[in-house]
Amino acid sequence: MVKKKACIFISGSGTNLKSIIKSARDYNFPINIELVISNKKTAKGINYAKKYSIPYQTITNKKKFEHFAYRIIHFKKIEIICLAGFMKVLSKDFIRKFKGKIINIHPSLLPKFKGLDTFNRVLRAKEKFTGCTVHFVDEKLDNGKIIIKKRIAVKKDFDEKELKNSVQVLEYKAYSEAIRKNIYL
Ligand code: GRF
Repeated sequence: MVKKKACIFISGSGTNLKSIIKSARDYNFPINIELVISNKKTAKGINYAKKYSIPYQTITNKKKFEHFAYRIIHFKKIEIICLAGFMKVLSKDFIRKFKGKIINIHPSLLPKFKGLDTFNRVLRAKEKFTGCTVHFVDEKLDNGKIIIKKRIAVKKDFDEKELKNSVQVLEYKAYSEAIRKNIYL
């Protein structure tokens, strides 16, 4: 199978990155991770790139992030960008350049709870269910076409950390499933 060349954007712990790296070892998984880009020097996720010998770049310059990212993505002929805990909002211009080629994971059942501080807001709203959503990125925040949603029950005694842990386990399954399902559309 000819795998598409993918780049993963991260800012933090990179556990979704780790899970995609593991999926991508499968001969039938439709992407190969050619590059990891972090906008944070301290992102723990960079260690997964190192551990699995994936080329990585750290671009901390806020104003020039997209300029440098575009250059290397173009040079490496990247076809798919996966945002995995990437905490910088991309410009409309950048998103337009990669229309239909950027996907993101968000820790809620979109369109509910767009934006930050999701778990806390879900708990305060006393939601019975929550989950995660993998979606295409469009010019509005957490808004593009949905590829996959996965749902769990919110247990009554869950604190924020427990909720986050439960949702993240779902995320690992959801992201790889979404990539398998949608990458050739
Ligand atoms: C995930 O919960 C994801 O939904 C959100 O940021 C978190 C990233 O976690 N966008 P990690 O860096 O993949 O561990």
